[in-house]
Amino acid sequence: MNTALDRIRKTLGGAPGVVFGAPGRANLIGEHTDYNGGLVLPVALEMRTFVGGSYTEERVLRLQSLDEPGAVVVDLDSGRGPAAGWGRYATGVVRAALDEGYELRGFAGVVASDVPIGAGLSSSAALEVAIAWAVLQSGPGVLEVARLCRRAENVYCGTQSGIMDQLTATAGVADHALLIDCLDETFDPVPVPPGLIVLVIDSGVHRTLADSGYNRRRAECERAARILGIDTLREARLEDIEAGQLRDPERRRARHVVTENDRVLRAVGALRGGDTGALGPLFAESHRSLAEDFEVSTPEVDLLVGTAAGTPGIVAARMTGGGFGGCIVCLVDAGAEGAAAQRIAAQYEATTGRRARHWVSRPADGAGPVNWGRRQK
Ligand code: GLA
Repeated sequence: MNTALDRIRKTLGGAPGVVFGAPGRANLIGEHTDYNGGLVLPVALEMRTFVGGSYTEERVLRLQSLDEPGAVVVDLDSGRGPAAGWGRYATGVVRAALDEGYELRGFAGVVASDVPIGAGLSSSAALEVAIAWAVLQSGPGVLEVARLCRRAENVYCGTQSGIMDQLTATAGVADHALLIDCLDETFDPVPVPPGLIVLVIDSGVHRTLADSGYNRRRAECERAARILGIDTLREARLEDIEAGQLRDPERRRARHVVTENDRVLRAVGALRGGDTGALGPLFAESHRSLAEDFEVSTPEVDLLVGTAAGTPGIVAARMTGGGFGGCIVCLVDAGAEGAAAQRIAAQYEATTGRRARHWVSRPADGAGPVNWGRRQK
């Protein structure tokens, strides 16, 4: 399964060194709520990004990707490094760490990933967090690492994302989803029953968040909050939104956020109470709200969700991540995931001519050192 880790092992050979891994994520429910101080319920996935190598006396971070061309060198004192390509994440992490006053250590190594890039499974957060683990001198807590990586993303990589992706990559808990309250940045693991598998299906239609309408959606939400006279849409009530102060599109954006926060709480109640039958309608409502009120779905993603809804073994299905293409997330009865994925992909290909890749996972742990049999002296 860990082909990226195998490639890192092979590259490092017999040399002593350290390896850190950070997971991709799929959000079960609570979409476009994180930057509105709202609630999210993501899981960390078994697919990881790894950074392996050794500490050096040089004041630089040197990385080579086993997936993409080009070597990356970032100065640990000035933060000078590449501003484009995958190397910008390394530069972003170093700069964000310098901004926040963290001590950094020289590191030289390689990067490899099993997290599909650009599919909406937070390959960038996984890369940022794995790099942060490699260069941070003393171990800050999971929230601090997540905040610093979010800063890297927001300030140096161009996406005004919330904290969900980075915090899931640092704080994920195996067999649990993570209920994150993005207002006070607290989090609480919620058990995902062993009979359920997370199935992610990629529409194959991708747009990077920085280029898509993501930042525009965020601005619309901020405008809605301003008009309502509140700091974030977390404080908004449905009555206020329908009272007439807001016009479209702000009114619909705000309505999505308020109703989505409520759906997250109901999904948590369903998981904790063992009422998995309640999840299907909640995921379906979430998807409808994202498609109609938030307008971040696409015809391809709608087709995948619609097909999944009628497929045996699928308990719940909706779009996941920022939208504008990307993936859907399904909860599937364990044992049914292979047949379900094949059936959905076949129908999708028959209609669109596009291949839909898929991945299955149980909720996994967050980032950390990997025991790969060798340690740096
Ligand atoms: C992207 C962002 C997240 C979150 C989601 C939408 O994945 O990186 O912070 O806003 O979109 O829920």
